Amino acid sequence: MVSTVIPVRPFDLVIFGATGDLARRKILPGLYRRLAAGQMPTTARVIGAARSRMSQAEFREAARAALEEFVDAPALDAAQVDTFLATLDYVPVDATGEDGWAELAAKLGERPDHIRAFYMSVGPNLFGVIAERLAGCGLATPPSRIVVEKPLGHDLASARALNLELSKHFEEHQIYRIDHYLGKETVQNLMAIRFANAFFEPLWNSRHVEHVQITVAETVGVAGRGAYYDSAGAMRDMVQNHMMQLLCLTAMEPPARFEPDAVHDEKLKVIRALDPLTLADTVRGQYRGNNEDGSYHDHVDDPASRTESFVALRAHIANWRWAGTPFYLRTGKRLSARLSEIVVTFRQPPHTIFPQIEALKGNALIIRLQPGEGITMRVTIKEPGPGGMRLVEVPLDMTFADALAEVGDIPEAYERLILDVIRGDQTLFMRGDEVEAAWAWTDPIIRLWTESGSKPLLYDPGSAGPIEVYKLTSADGHLWREIAA
Ligand SMILES: NC(=O)c1ccc[n+]([C@@H]2O[C@H](COP(=O)([O-])OP(=O)(O)OC[C@H]3O[C@@H](n4cnc5c(N)ncnc54)[C@H](OP(=O)(O)O)[C@@H]3O)[C@@H](O)[C@H]2O)c1
Repeated sequence: MVSTVIPVRPFDLVIFGATGDLARRKILPGLYRRLAAGQMPTTARVIGAARSRMSQAEFREAARAALEEFVDAPALDAAQVDTFLATLDYVPVDATGEDGWAELAAKLGERPDHIRAFYMSVGPNLFGVIAERLAGCGLATPPSRIVVEKPLGHDLASARALNLELSKHFEEHQIYRIDHYLGKETVQNLMAIRFANAFFEPLWNSRHVEHVQITVAETVGVAGRGAYYDSAGAMRDMVQNHMMQLLCLTAMEPPARFEPDAVHDEKLKVIRALDPLTLADTVRGQYRGNNEDGSYHDHVDDPASRTESFVALRAHIANWRWAGTPFYLRTGKRLSARLSEIVVTFRQPPHTIFPQIEALKGNALIIRLQPGEGITMRVTIKEPGPGGMRLVEVPLDMTFADALAEVGDIPEAYERLILDVIRGDQTLFMRGDEVEAAWAWTDPIIRLWTESGSKPLLYDPGSAGPIEVYKLTSADGHLWREIAA
């Protein structure tokens, strides 16, 4: 199998916040890898913009250090690194002041034929300000694009306000809202598996699917990010965006075409079909401390904080396809393993000639996002050998790293998405109304927690969350899958 690399057209990408963590860890290394792969033209320009005063040469040296830190050594080729650094430029710009805007506009004016994109890798309070400044300098031209990333609001009202601010200066087709989960190979493969194969789609409904579990588990706590995290919590930080997107791609109807609006329309229908949750559909928790690390409260300013570091939900999608199939979502910090996966568990056969089958877990499709991206089908076969008909469950495994080894380097989510921005392909991004609909579903749950006066349940680090989480699935006769890498 040979991977096809199609170079994109020459572009100018301005990174607001080019000296920050996201730019150093993801954006610059991702762009380097695409240049090394032959996809980013050497005539492209990446223009860093932040308040820090530095020269072009100093920015290039800072970028070199970022590549050395965040690109795997075998992928760092000295000549390619130099070629990449030669595409970098820097303009000191203060988003909230006058400094630098005229210089930035003049620089972009040198190459009017380049595709123009502005990546807002800055705090969300600056998204609207930058959009306004760009318009004020005549840079919000119809073909230009802006890229923004979570947090896209804190609730429905603030998400609406943000959408409104951006839409004053940019059309919806110019706004790229990144959710990097959508850039993952496996997530796109979920769509390929569903819509490019004949045998899954007829089974993809409540007649055949018993339940679905979506898990995003982390082993790290909130140390170092306590201030931000405590103002958000697992629901805002993970469920409203990443997990909602995974839910949508799992549950949506086949779009008529693989085009941005057709895909976004189907995702939006899923979110709007979600039943409101009751308190009984939710379990939220906070981790305790142990010898290795402090408790949740040790890392945040408010000793009485009720922000959740864990949440599990039982969701129902009220439509013909999914009525009767629960979707269980859980995410949390300081859990037993770092793991992101979607598990679609099928019902048992309607009639069995093998009594033992009832003791087995049944068919499941396990879509693993990390670690080790891949898809596994759990099937039941006869245990090999003599001694009667004994059944055993085995995985039919398609780990992409093995299966696609010949293809070479699989692009990381950010690199794929940044190049989609340049290509003008919004399929793997979130539309404004999707973001608002997701908030409209999560806001009432957060409100219910607050109004009930209840506290998050405590759980041990290295566990699967508060013990009460097991009741959520067992009430329906189901079991959570173990959180193990
Ligand atoms: N880091 C991640 O992994 C990650 C993941 C998901 C989402 N995000 C989101 O991505 C954005 C950036 O995150 P980050 O972690 O990179 O933040 P960060 O490390 O704090 O960097 C912020 C950047 O913004 C610049 N900046 C601040 N005020 C500015 C102003 N008035 N004008 C121009 N530039 C200004 C800073 O440079 P100067 O101080 O030199 O101006 C710096 O380069 C945030 O919205 C964050 O929520 C980050």
